[in-house]
Parts: sequence; structure tokens; C-alpha cells
Amino acid sequence: MKSDRSWIPGATELDWIDGLAGPVPAALAAIEAAAAPEHIPIVDRDSGRVLAALAVGRRRIVEVGTAYGYSTLWLALGQPADGTIVTIDPDRTRTDLARGWWRQAGVPDERITVVTARALEAFAAGQAALAGPFDLVFIDALKPEYVAYLEALVPRLAPGALVLADNVLWSGRVADRAVDDESTAALRAFDAAVLRDPRFTATILPVGDGLLVAGYRG
Ligand SMILES: C[S@@+](CC[C@H](N)C(=O)[O-])C[C@H]1O[C@@H](n2cnc3c(N)ncnc32)[C@H](O)[C@@H]1O
Repeated sequence: MKSDRSWIPGATELDWIDGLAGPVPAALAAIEAAAAPEHIPIVDRDSGRVLAALAVGRRRIVEVGTAYGYSTLWLALGQPADGTIVTIDPDRTRTDLARGWWRQAGVPDERITVVTARALEAFAAGQAALAGPFDLVFIDALKPEYVAYLEALVPRLAPGALVLADNVLWSGRVADRAVDDESTAALRAFDAAVLRDPRFTATILPVGDGLLVAGYRG
């Protein structure tokens, strides 16, 4: 057992893992290239690989925050070929571009449904596409709304579902008590709430910007 912190994984290990995994599919590389100059915040490639691995065997997925569909595509590539994803984002310009990259990757249109709305409004409206039950949830939109997204999603979870959320370490700000802006405080409260919630067994993977992984015990 490695019980001290004299060595922790760093960029060298991330590069080594990336090299082992091999090149990403062209559509994912195209999204990375398109997102960077536009400053569209997408998950790190390292986190994308985790999303794909955790999506294996998960047939019904819901995602809050689509942007260019990078995380959506990692999830789609990991889940079974007959799996479906409902992804929510009010920005139609972004999600229309995402559809093109999903097609480039060979994902049939019927596998991914885009809900063009603010997530909390879509959940409150009881949209049929969001009825569930879902066996994986990925949260990656407005940080002050993370707790509300989770509470709206809990009744829509299948037993044993996984809840994932990005940015939960927020580039080190969450664990830094000296930082107290709205998003940081909201993420700190979200992390504490989920890790102490008896409905979940949860932890945070220090990958990318921090990836919360919570198994639903319900
Ligand atoms: C961090 S980006 C998502 C990145 C994407 N998950 C990825 O890794 O490829 C956040 C997205 O949330 C969207 N968004 C903003 N407000 C929202 C809301 N109220 N509900 C759902 N999505 C929202 C933004 O338009 C933006 O595209």
C-alpha cells in the first residue's frame, strides 16, 4: 500500500497513460481543436477517458451541459451500442455543431437527444425525454446550480446509478479556504453534500479539474 504522499502522479504519468491509450478518435480531436480557440470549457482528455470507462454497461445517460459535445461523445463511445444519451444545453449554436462531430464519430442521431433549455426549467417542466430512469448522470453546467441539478435528478436515478460531476476541485480553489467566490463556495458545498449523503457512496478523483463519482444506493 502506498501510504505516504512523497510521490503523487503528475504530468509524466498522464502523458504515459495517454500514450498507452493511443490516439483519440478524429471527431474528439476535432472538438478539442475547435473548443480551444473559442475558450469553450470542455472536460480534460484524461477525464474523458474516465467518462468512457464508467459508461460501459450504462444504457441510459443524462448530461447537464453539452457545449460542443466532447464529454457526450466520450460517454457515447463507452456505453453499449444501443445506449442513449439525453444532453441538456440552452445554447443551440453549440449543440448543432456537436451533432456534426457525433455524426463524424459514427454515432447515430437517435442515440443522442438534445434538450435545448436551461436544465432546471427542463426538469421542472417534466419533459418526457428527462423522465428516466437513468443509470449514469454527468453534471457539467452552472456551478451554483450543481446541488439543484442533483436534487432534480435523484428521483430519475435507477438503483446503482452513477452520478459524475466535473470541476469539483475547480483548479485548486475548492480546497483553498482563502477562496470564497460564488462558484467555489457552491462547488465546496456540493462536494460536502454528496460525500456526506447516505443515499450515495462517493469520492472525488483528482483527474482533470476534479471528477466527483457517486454511486446511488437507492
Ligand atoms: C462546461 S460547458 C460543458 C462542457 C461539456 N460537458 C464537455 O465537457 O464537453 C457548460 C455548458 O453548460 C451550458 N449551460 C449554461 N447554462 C445552463 C443551464 N442552465 N442548463 C444547462 N446547461 C447550461 C453552457 O451553454 C455550456 O455549453
